[in-house]
Amino acid sequence: MKKRRVALLIGLAVLACMLAFMPAYSQEDITSLKDEAFGKGERPAAAFAHEDHNEKAEIEECNVCHHVHKDGELVEDESSEGQSCSDCHNVKEGYPTPSLMKAYHDLCKACHLENKKGPVTCGECHPRGGSVASHETH
Ligand code: HEC
Ligand code: HEC
Ligand code: HEC
Ligand code: HEC
Repeated sequence: MKKRRVALLIGLAVLACMLAFMPAYSQEDITSLKDEAFGKGERPAAAFAHEDHNEKAEIEECNVCHHVHKDGELVEDESSEGQSCSDCHNVKEGYPTPSLMKAYHDLCKACHLENKKGPVTCGECHPRGGSVASHETH
């Protein structure tokens, strides 16, 4: 009887640990972007299903978006995916990087325009009511 209770308690403790770490695992599963650096913000979250998007768009290099610059030059084989865009790009315009909003807009829109594929209007990118599941990024 006692043994079973201990086993049950251990089982519950393991489960609690797994639940506690779940957010860490699901973090990469971004479905939309709402950067907290903007505070409340004016617009609904931007549609962006990280994995699906990059698969469909056939983007192989992470540093197409998660770039690293040195002395004003793009570093080819380095990537900054461990960092947030807002770690380097400020909400207010600041040398040498474009402001955070411009950084997002320029990166996303430029490629869509170039490929003639992907959304380029405010409403397509910031769908009202968030037809996409919301995921807070930092
Ligand atoms: C290609 C997609 C795309 C397009 C087109 C686009 N945005 Fe954004 N926008 C983003 C992303 C991504 C962010 C950063 C994530 C977020 O919303 O916090 C952002 C952030 C913003 C922000 C700062 C955050 C906030 O909610 O205050 C504003 C304001 C904004 N966009 C307005 C606009 C307006 C106005 C247009 C049309 C002129 C537009 N956007 C077009 C993708 C887009
Ligand atoms: C089309 C642009 C793009 C590409 C390509 C891309 N990412 Fe991202 N990724 C983003 C954006 C935007 C964010 C949100 C950044 C933020 O919150 O500051 C992000 C966030 C992340 C995060 C943080 C997860 C979180 O929840 O905070 C990780 C990890 C990540 N990306 C890994 C990768 C890896 C690995 C690759 C290559 C296999 C990759 N990304 C390719 C745009 C991209
Ligand atoms: C480790 C710091 C760092 C991170 C993280 C970072 N950037 Fe940048 N980014 C820079 C610097 C520095 C420049 C300016 C390069 C120069 O001197 O022209 C830049 C330039 C840009 C530009 C201008 C065009 C270009 O590519 O040079 C865009 C757009 C941009 N960043 C978008 C983003 C977005 C969106 C994210 C998040 C997915 C991001 N950046 C993450 C440092 C960073
Ligand atoms: C290097 C190129 C590239 C970059 C950078 C890029 N996209 Fe895209 N995006 C594409 C292409 C190509 C498609 C069309 C994919 C298809 O349907 O064939 C697309 C499609 C989309 C779609 C339509 C739905 C989907 O997932 O197919 C959304 C929403 C989108 N992009 C948002 C964004 C946002 C937000 C960013 C910036 C954080 C971004 N994209 C950056 C190339 C890019």
